[in-house]
Amino acid sequence: MSLLSPVEGWYYKKVSKDEKMWMVIALILCLSLFVWMIMWHVYGKQNPSSITYRTSTAEFGKLSEAYIKKNMIGADNGVPVVRPDANSDVFLLAEMWRWSPVLVLQKDQSYKFHISSRDLVHGFSIQPVNMNFQVYPTYDYVLEFKPTESGEFKIICNEFCGIGHHAMIGKIVVIEKDEDLKLYGYENFKKAASTDTAANKDVPLTDAEMALMGEQIYTLKGCGACHKTDGSSQIAPSWKGLFGKEEHVIENGKQISVKVDESYIKESIKDPTKKKTVGFENTPMPVFPLTDDEIAQVIAYIKTLKN
Ligand code: CUA
Repeated sequence: MSLLSPVEGWYYKKVSKDEKMWMVIALILCLSLFVWMIMWHVYGKQNPSSITYRTSTAEFGKLSEAYIKKNMIGADNGVPVVRPDANSDVFLLAEMWRWSPVLVLQKDQSYKFHISSRDLVHGFSIQPVNMNFQVYPTYDYVLEFKPTESGEFKIICNEFCGIGHHAMIGKIVVIEKDEDLKLYGYENFKKAASTDTAANKDVPLTDAEMALMGEQIYTLKGCGACHKTDGSSQIAPSWKGLFGKEEHVIENGKQISVKVDESYIKESIKDPTKKKTVGFENTPMPVFPLTDDEIAQVIAYIKTLKN
């Protein structure tokens, strides 16, 4: 039942001339858009990639992690920075809520991008050049990419993907020469020494080595998408000064106070929804399959982030 009922017999009334005119205009508009739909497909520059592979989120996640681990030259705000060789395959992963890695590309060189999502649909939008592309999980979209302008380009997510959507901003840096790295504070970035050698040593790792590996996990696994290390916290508790802190959490619907120690962090990683931190109840953490060694390294890293 609507609020106001139409006058009885309203549909017998003759359509007025103005109304007919608008109907004709709308029809012409629809038809011309229909024709353009075909034209855009033939002449458009932002059509979906013609090379697409089926993949799984686990498989693509593994590929991109291995790729980043091998090519990482540094980190920018907890996001790995990669400088790929020209004509090489580049893996770019969209996930709630970040684009990983940051890419440093050479102007006028070609790259073969592989883009996929780890969770849900994200929108790949390069600004300010306004190139747009939808990114779906379980599909590997291959885009031939050749930057013709140098500068910093942002990757904006233009598909609403949840509470952190507005913060899902990635970066592509296009340089002409090595000195340009200074413009972005990347001049000291070089291929990081592999921490795998440290892990293969028989002697136990020092706290500093553990923390360094923990930081690498933080960067690679994307913890920084939600957990900041500078004290700012929007989506999840900041890691700065976290260790040893008294935290208010909700367990079984009751609010209790816990001390953040090794066992609490371990439990939070393995079973993130058991105790929810007050203030972040609505942004549950996904489960990250970390090994016990990796968890110990992450804890070592958190310990170094003092207030
Ligand atoms: Cu990803 Cu919005």
